[in-house]
Amino acid sequence: MRVVYYSVDQDHARWIPGLQAALPQAEVSLWAPGAPPADYAVVWKPPQQLLDEQPGLKALFNTGAGVDALLQLRLPAGLPVIRLDDAGMSVQMAEYVCHAVIRHFREFDGYEADMAHGKWSFRKPRSRLDYPVGILGLGVLGERVARSVAQFDFPVNGWSRSPKTLPGVQSFAGADQLDAFLAASRIVVCLLPLTPDTRDLLNAQRLARIRPGGYVINVARGAHVVDADLLAALDSGHLAGATLDVFRTEPLPAGHPFWQHPRITVTPHTSARTLRSESIAQIAGKIGALQRGEPVAGKVDPSRGY
Ligand code: NAP
Ligand code: GLV
Repeated sequence: MRVVYYSVDQDHARWIPGLQAALPQAEVSLWAPGAPPADYAVVWKPPQQLLDEQPGLKALFNTGAGVDALLQLRLPAGLPVIRLDDAGMSVQMAEYVCHAVIRHFREFDGYEADMAHGKWSFRKPRSRLDYPVGILGLGVLGERVARSVAQFDFPVNGWSRSPKTLPGVQSFAGADQLDAFLAASRIVVCLLPLTPDTRDLLNAQRLARIRPGGYVINVARGAHVVDADLLAALDSGHLAGATLDVFRTEPLPAGHPFWQHPRITVTPHTSARTLRSESIAQIAGKIGALQRGEPVAGKVDPSRGY
């Protein structure tokens, strides 16, 4: 069995020995143009040439949860595409989002600013009931985030394509219930996959539906948010702030207004990193299962885009 690895991040020096150790029966190598035919490819943002030159792949493993970049390519019809299925990401996402929610709710940003001036000044306690948290996307990551936020007794709403039953989470489903979801939420967390249906979802009209004094946390993809509309909603006072981990162009270009905005917190696409050991163990386990003809979790449906 032959496995090829390719990542735009050029991190093969660690991945290939890891995959080789987890798959001793396989020959694991870095993909390069002209590489011999492989059974499986493990990739992050590969070039079209890899797919064109490897028509005999049995499956394509994506070393991330989001497959938006992969689905831009021409994929052989019927090729199974398998995304990372948590692999240590959901706990990181829960940490990040709970931190951002609590930092805003408890006004830690204000205390940080006070500290710079040696100022001792309590803020009045806020009521959690005034800060319902809405999670857009209740999949592998969104569900874990919703459960974690609910543990801090915030009211939690969730929006997905299909209705969900999750303890402590009010479920909203489908395009028809998006407005009601936004109107019921003050802190809105985006954990959707980027698809034609979800691109530009947080535009001026939708941001206006969030409760006044709202707060946006985008940890999915930059193109879910219309940058100029977010800035306008902040500058009008409708939104109180935003924490953004993902951007239309990454790295976020120097001079982009998000960098200097006093009510935006920027982090460098780090809310849930791919953890190499966990990911290799998961992918190797799935290659073994596929070889034995067993089903695997995390298969992408290209017609849905996730
Ligand atoms: P997932 O398991 O595929 O879950 C996607 C969720 O979105 C599902 O609940 C799905 O609804 C819902 N959804 C999709 N399209 C929808 C639509 N048109 N209307 C309403 N709901 C819709 O994905 P995941 O593993 O949780 O990951 C989510 C995204 O996070 C990834 O695609 C990736 O872009 C991003 N991500 C970012 C980072 C980072 O570091 N910033 C790290 C990992 C992932 P159903 O449940 O009804 O199908
Ligand atoms: C990271 O953004 C991922 O999709 O895993």
